Amino acid sequence: PVQPRERLRVAIQKSGRLGEPARELLASCGLTWRESRDKLFLYGESLPVDILLVRDDDIPGLIADGVCDLGIVGRNVLVEHGLEREAQGRPADLNEWRQLGWGTCRLDIAIPESEEWTGPQQLEGLRIATSYPQTLGRWLRDNGVDAEPVVLNGSVEIAPRLGQADVVCDLVSTGGTLRANQLRPVTTILHSEAVIAGPRATLDDGRQEIADLLVRRLDGALQLKE
Ligand code: PRP
Ligand code: ZN
Ligand code: MG
Repeated sequence: PVQPRERLRVAIQKSGRLGEPARELLASCGLTWRESRDKLFLYGESLPVDILLVRDDDIPGLIADGVCDLGIVGRNVLVEHGLEREAQGRPADLNEWRQLGWGTCRLDIAIPESEEWTGPQQLEGLRIATSYPQTLGRWLRDNGVDAEPVVLNGSVEIAPRLGQADVVCDLVSTGGTLRANQLRPVTTILHSEAVIAGPRATLDDGRQEIADLLVRRLDGALQLKE
């Protein structure tokens, strides 16, 4: 069981595309912090809101376990977590509290540049490298395709060149990574953007009130940006 905690804890990406804008967004809500020596924990000074800098893939699990209360993360990571729970026969625990409108990217199937694309059926029996096996699995089922996911946590784009997979299913932002690896996106299986992820259940120990206050300020900050 998690210890009672009266300060809100928000998980954001420690490096990568969403980390810096997430920090800026929280700062624009009037939050100020004191950094821990390793810079992975930011102790909130102006509000009882602390920030934990972690790997994006770890954010849903941290919220699910009650270690953090909210997270700023790509929808792609949140959806994968939800489908994983579903596959285990467990009820949904998290949802999107807000959509942030930035950090947009797509989860795409990409094939070698030299190959034609005729449609999903072409993937039948192929090995597909991905970090999103559940999201890919759902799309394959929806399309009646029987393929073999090859799960990799990083450098998915080099799998075809290494002979480890035939095609990939990976995030595409600028498209630069795919191009550099002679791959081309052929179909989108998920549209993603940064979101505020939080539990479906109400928070304990007065943290719900802090979360409500933070989200009101976030809404204000997001409106100013429009
Ligand atoms: C994604 C993806 C590619 C890259 C694509 O990784 O896995 O590596 O972005 O971006 P591009 O189209 O602009 O080249 P991400 O930044 O999410 O980092 P991670 O895989 O380490 O979580
Ligand atoms: Zn990641
Ligand atoms: Mg990557």
